[in-house]
Amino acid sequence: MKYRPEDLTRLPRSVEYREQRVYLIDQRLIPREFKIIGLKTVEEVARAIKTMQVRGAPAIGAAAAFGLALYAETSGAGSREEFLDGFYRAYEILKNTRPTAVNLFWALSRIKRLVEENLESPIDEIRKLIVAEAQKIADEDVEANLRMGHIGAEILPEGNILTHCNAGSLATVHLGTVGAVLRVMHREGKLRLLWVDETRPVLQGARLSAWEYHYDGIPLKLIADNMAGFVMQQGKVDAIIVGADRIVANGDFANKIGTYTLAVLAKEHGIPFFTVAPLSTIDMSLKSGKEIPIEERSEEEVLTCGGCRIAPEVDVYNPAFDVTPHKYLTGIITERGVVYPPFERNLKRLFREEP
Ligand code: MRU
Repeated sequence: MKYRPEDLTRLPRSVEYREQRVYLIDQRLIPREFKIIGLKTVEEVARAIKTMQVRGAPAIGAAAAFGLALYAETSGAGSREEFLDGFYRAYEILKNTRPTAVNLFWALSRIKRLVEENLESPIDEIRKLIVAEAQKIADEDVEANLRMGHIGAEILPEGNILTHCNAGSLATVHLGTVGAVLRVMHREGKLRLLWVDETRPVLQGARLSAWEYHYDGIPLKLIADNMAGFVMQQGKVDAIIVGADRIVANGDFANKIGTYTLAVLAKEHGIPFFTVAPLSTIDMSLKSGKEIPIEERSEEEVLTCGGCRIAPEVDVYNPAFDVTPHKYLTGIITERGVVYPPFERNLKRLFREEP
């Protein structure tokens, strides 16, 4: 590969583990403050995922994996039974944080499987295996992003790109999915302008994407969500790239609320519409997007903005994600290449291929 992560971003990794602490960039504070927090317990990691101090599908997967590493290294269990009981408790606590992004369940199950394959090993051996596997999950995420960055930059048209939410470095362990593609395009002089949707109600576009891409010197313009259609109609968007929280077997995918609206508009305007996601975001056990559990979040997120009340006390509906049917999707950029329609057949093929 042409570039290394340090050629593409000045940001550090968003999620790390060392010396019995899970370190996270606190995403609730950006852009007002850049702060790395160190978490010491599984409960603290679960709370950080729930409250979105760490968010973005691959980032929460890695954080949960490191949560299990934390358990493995800090548990004072005297017997195998006690250690395993604690492990399953930690697993459940981390699993019950957010329901839509499949990377969380993928990462936790990967470690659980490893533990169950090594039940006869000495506890200290199991502890080491868990920590090493969590680290591997994080390192593989960076590697996948780097690959997707190169692949995406190769196939996307030169010009103006529009993105929604934050699928950047902050949403992953490092670089981002969409973030890696944008960074390689920028590096190669292929990215004229990045349109960033603000992404109400949690403002991941305005607070996080605008911040991290600006920090890395990518030319961008921030727009309110309801401006995207007009910008497309004016011919100012050459392609749209978004992340994904769960892609299912027929190519339907869940991503941040508002993605579906963009996909329909992109079709109307003949604009290529891609999602960029690693294999860990693809859930082949679900047949269609209708089966994806959609998280509903608090009323407060809609009734307030930046801590200020912006609406009277009325009833609120706040789905955090929507599902984009595969018919609106031009392609899925993965670390193993780009998947084009027919998605059902080509996704199956992707998983059959050797890495
Ligand atoms: O609720 P969030 O902020 O966790 O939602 C994040 C998204 O929808 C991202 O676009 C998605 O996780 C892809 S991140 C590479």
